[in-house]
Amino acid sequence: MTEQFEYYKAIREQYVARGVGNGNLHVADTASGATIKDVEGNTFIDFAGAIGTLNVGHTHPEITKHLKEQLDKFIHPGFNVIMYESYLKLAQKLTEITPGDFAKKTILLNSGAEAVENAVKIARKYTGRQAVVSFVRGFHGRTNLTMSMTSKVRPYKYGFGPFAPEVYQAPYPNISEKPDALSEAAYVDQVIQKLNDFFIETVDPTEVACIVMEPVQGEGGFIIPDCKFVKAVKAICEENGIVFVADEIQTGFARTGKTFAIEHFDIEPDLITVSKSLAAGFPLSGVVGKAEIIDSANPGELGGTYAGNPLACEAALKVIEIIEKEQLNDKAETLGQRIEAFLQGITSSYDNIGPIRRLGAMVAVEIVDPATGEPDKALTGKIVQTANTNGLLLLSAGIKGNVIRFLAPLVITDDELSAGLNILETAFSEVLSKQPL
Ligand SMILES: Cc1ncc(COP(=O)(O)O)c(C=O)c1O
Repeated sequence: MTEQFEYYKAIREQYVARGVGNGNLHVADTASGATIKDVEGNTFIDFAGAIGTLNVGHTHPEITKHLKEQLDKFIHPGFNVIMYESYLKLAQKLTEITPGDFAKKTILLNSGAEAVENAVKIARKYTGRQAVVSFVRGFHGRTNLTMSMTSKVRPYKYGFGPFAPEVYQAPYPNISEKPDALSEAAYVDQVIQKLNDFFIETVDPTEVACIVMEPVQGEGGFIIPDCKFVKAVKAICEENGIVFVADEIQTGFARTGKTFAIEHFDIEPDLITVSKSLAAGFPLSGVVGKAEIIDSANPGELGGTYAGNPLACEAALKVIEIIEKEQLNDKAETLGQRIEAFLQGITSSYDNIGPIRRLGAMVAVEIVDPATGEPDKALTGKIVQTANTNGLLLLSAGIKGNVIRFLAPLVITDDELSAGLNILETAFSEVLSKQPL
């Protein structure tokens, strides 16, 4: 390692909180599309996209140019103090592009967790009820309420209690866990039965304000639920006056080949939480949904100092334009197909490749112990680490830490994709071929 690397590493270790995780200790210098260069001149292909934040890629030229102009106008007058056009236009645009043929409104915030918190606040106010239902394996953030709604105990919850009251986690199907004896259809029916039982055994539906569901579980390992299950959840909401919240923070903005993943299930959620790829890397989030529900909160009850920052709103308006102009929904599908084909192609070479899942460009592969079929977190970590060392930024996920997930910018070029997949193939062969038989 160079002197410069050691210098930054020392500062990181001495002054930055240990609780903040780093995939590696390189220091970014410039980034464009799906490529990052560090201060030492190393190049990385980015399959992490700032954890799903960069569907339009790093420093998209149109966004960068536009924001430079915006910077000269004003930075943050504060929407609660004086309005500005970008917030208004984005609020309108989000109501237009989200599913649901009804009057909608938007509130803009900063982070994903803040959007989920606000969706719950709004649902509680609207229904006059307290209980919140999320799902096993779900991830919704790191604040007290969203941590309480999240599943994975380590590292997200361990030692951080007490958790928020009136939060309950319902079952969510994972076809990889289906018992061999059951057909897929029978397994889904069984989970729906468990869901119905949950509303008898755990919480009464008439006390539930909202059900918050990731249409595809992100941190949980890119778990894609059966359509019948999602429809069953929606039906329970409709029958019991529960607000259905689709948490699209990771799945939104073309990642799954549709602007919002919930569209794959032909469902119109009452509220949708958005963030991450909404603003090309700027901290921005929002809750969009039925006007009647959103307006149950009175003036002053929602908001925040930086919520709906104008630079972030300008970036988001451009993102929405770019998704359409560059046909990113179609690109997501093609990109996903290529990554899936690559993974299918190497399965015969290694016994450690477990289930492969895909919806659009949301692709994941499980790494398992071939002897037992059990998740192999340590091996997954080694593959990710080796890929990182060789110039590919890659992320793991999954409740058992054995899932490699792909969140590359959707604008990734063929050359960048091939270079990334080559590095990944080398990482697989370096790590997996060394496994004892
Ligand atoms: C589905 C989902 N909800 C909420 C969050 C929390 O977002 P943030 O980290 O911006 O608070 C995330 C972050 O990964 C997420 O994937």
